[in-house]
Amino acid sequence: MSKMMHAVRIEAFGGPEVVRWQEIPVPEPHEGEALLKVRAASVNPVDYKIRNGKYPAVQTDKLPYVLGRDACGTVEACGPGVTKFAKGDQLYAFVGIERGCYAEYVIVKESEASAKPASLDDVAAAAVPLAGTTAWQGLFRCGELKSGQRILIHGGSGGVGHFAIQFAKAKGAYVITTASEAGIDFVRQLGADQVIDYMKQRFEDAVRDVDVVFDLIGGETEDRSWRVLKRGGVLVSTLTPPSQEQASAHGVRATRFTAQPSSAELGEMASLIDAGKVKPMVTKTFALRDAASALQIVEAGHTQGKVVLTVD
Ligand SMILES: NC(=O)c1ccc[n+]([C@@H]2O[C@H](COP(=O)([O-])OP(=O)(O)OC[C@H]3O[C@@H](n4cnc5c(N)ncnc54)[C@H](OP(=O)(O)O)[C@@H]3O)[C@@H](O)[C@H]2O)c1
Repeated sequence: MSKMMHAVRIEAFGGPEVVRWQEIPVPEPHEGEALLKVRAASVNPVDYKIRNGKYPAVQTDKLPYVLGRDACGTVEACGPGVTKFAKGDQLYAFVGIERGCYAEYVIVKESEASAKPASLDDVAAAAVPLAGTTAWQGLFRCGELKSGQRILIHGGSGGVGHFAIQFAKAKGAYVITTASEAGIDFVRQLGADQVIDYMKQRFEDAVRDVDVVFDLIGGETEDRSWRVLKRGGVLVSTLTPPSQEQASAHGVRATRFTAQPSSAELGEMASLIDAGKVKPMVTKTFALRDAASALQIVEAGHTQGKVVLTVD
């Protein structure tokens, strides 16, 4: 008989009531895969979007579905051909959409995981993979941010934004960010050079000539962002695909991207973290079996830093 584990699963799309705490078989690692014993997993907006049935890559054919896209844990076993990891290694990972981390065990591929930053405990390490990778790819792959450039980050106090501020500062950029009054001290502590209280001031009246806009809010915030960019600048969104007509009218580049798991980038982030240049901020933790409540907190849209689930 297969070994069993607990997992947080949905069998239908909907609100918090569809989130179930169930016993399911522990998965087996195949070629190039490791079985990770999960110590902590983070909550990202994608998790409640999937639960709500609002995430295109997870349709009814994927149900029942284990939630959770990133985690930190210990390698329990390796499948054939695994060369980078061994039993007992402590890893952090951003897994493919077909697997879920809200479970006592999850399969990770070599291309999705890296050694966990040595300076972090399990909870802090679990906060990094998806949000950190999104910030990293938005800034450096899509935005091509360079030292000395000016960047405006919309939503700097959230999970992705709080990493983006720190990565941009570590790169040597001048960082402007929007936050509500509750988040102003938080983003300043992270290193933001200029903070705009978006509830009190329109950012486009306070900012000019930025090289990169990193938009974690979308919609109207994106529409109002064109005129803060200098010619030759770039608008990078994690949400709304930007208008290419507006981009060419303003002489800028504009792109929307989906973050992809990258072991190499997790390794680069771990180096920055262990060098003391970046610190994940976890503002709330919940037990894994209380994932439904944790998702509701993140869905409310006012998280500072990250919310993390712990596995006993
Ligand atoms: N494309 C991708 O691959 C990808 C990857 C990761 C995330 N995303 C998306 O990117 C978005 C951000 O993700 P996240 O993990 O950072 O979310 P999050 O942690 O839930 O972000 C919440 C933060 O946004 C701030 N905020 C809300 N409205 C704002 C506004 N109008 N202006 C400025 N700040 C505002 C909130 O602060 P206050 O409430 O204090 O204002 C809060 O601190 C989500 O929609 C997520 O789905 C996409």
